[in-house]
Amino acid sequence: GKDKELIRGSWESLGKNKVPHGVIMFSRLFELDPALLSLFHYSTNCGSTQDCLSSPEFLEHVTKVMLVIDAAVSHLDDLHSLEDFLLNLGRKHQAVGVNTEAFAMVGEALLYMLQCSLGQAYTAPLRQAWLNMYSIVVAAMSRGWAK
Ligand code: HEM
Repeated sequence: GKDKELIRGSWESLGKNKVPHGVIMFSRLFELDPALLSLFHYSTNCGSTQDCLSSPEFLEHVTKVMLVIDAAVSHLDDLHSLEDFLLNLGRKHQAVGVNTEAFAMVGEALLYMLQCSLGQAYTAPLRQAWLNMYSIVVAAMSRGWAK
């Protein structure tokens, strides 16, 4: 319905520029919770947020995140088909020390990126549509923490 149209319409241009939009999102995430930066220990020179945001491994993770969002947008009609993938993705994040509470912050950062990128097109219904989709993704990933 309307939610899907709003999401697909807004992702059409964003999805073509994954890295810059993902960088906006993660810059915001580290502003909201600087402690999350320490979970990315690939770079030896991750002394500052800026160093980390420009390291190749970090930009690869940004791309991975954006590809998962891209997959969710393409599977809006059957998000259930992504459940096993997302559960496993959750397991991998548990293994690297991410807490499920961090996903609320990631959601805030996602909305911030949408707001920055969409300007006038960022409306209350659009925000809600994205939150709805994001909460389904997070619920599926969170099953990876279940004992
Ligand atoms: C892998 C951290 C959020 C998607 C990883 C890895 C780390 C990490 C350390 C392993 C190294 C790597 O592959 O780069 C985090 C942190 C997050 C976060 C601290 C924020 C709290 C997310 C979100 C998504 C995501 C929201 C997608 C919705 C992925 C993917 C991989 C990955 C696809 C690769 C998994 C694989 O190797 O199969 N993440 N991540 N991450 N992350 Fe995240």
